[in-house]
Amino acid sequence: MALERTLTIIKPDAVAANNIGNILAIIETAGLRVIATKMLHMSNEHTEKLYEEHKERPFYASLAGYMTSGPVLIMVLEGENAVSSLRKIMGATIPKDAETSTIRNLYAKHKQKNGVLENAIHGSDSGTSAQREIAFFFKPKDICLRTR
Ligand code: RTP
Ligand code: MG
Repeated sequence: MALERTLTIIKPDAVAANNIGNILAIIETAGLRVIATKMLHMSNEHTEKLYEEHKERPFYASLAGYMTSGPVLIMVLEGENAVSSLRKIMGATIPKDAETSTIRNLYAKHKQKNGVLENAIHGSDSGTSAQREIAFFFKPKDICLRTR
């Protein structure tokens, strides 16, 4: 087991539906700890950086429209195997394929909207992505160590 950090974003659909608390309850129950938070309205530049691997995909313009449609809650999480733990409790990208009791099964839209899946939450897909994404959104001084 390894203590890791990962980045999560509660996406605009889930913030608008007032599901922040419901999603955080699942995250905390899984043993992940919040060590930094930031609420903001993402810009096109934020979206391009976060999803740079998808820039050439046909759904990119729709994805950018979705991610800039309203405020998001961005958090750094810490815990044992945080990257894979978070991905597990998020559920599959396509919400109708997400396992029962996962965040996307419970709180995502199950149909495409404006050409994209509104699926409630982002989670870094690897340790390397997590480091890059955390450094993009947070300065080291913004991260608060859990001293108890
Ligand atoms: P995320 O990066 O947000 O955690 O999602 P993910 O790893 O599960 O999925 P990824 O392949 O990275 O896709 C990024 C986001 O793009 C939207 N998407 N829509 N066919 C579609 O309509 C489609 N494919 C991807 C979703 O919002 C997905 O989470
Ligand atoms: Mg991804």
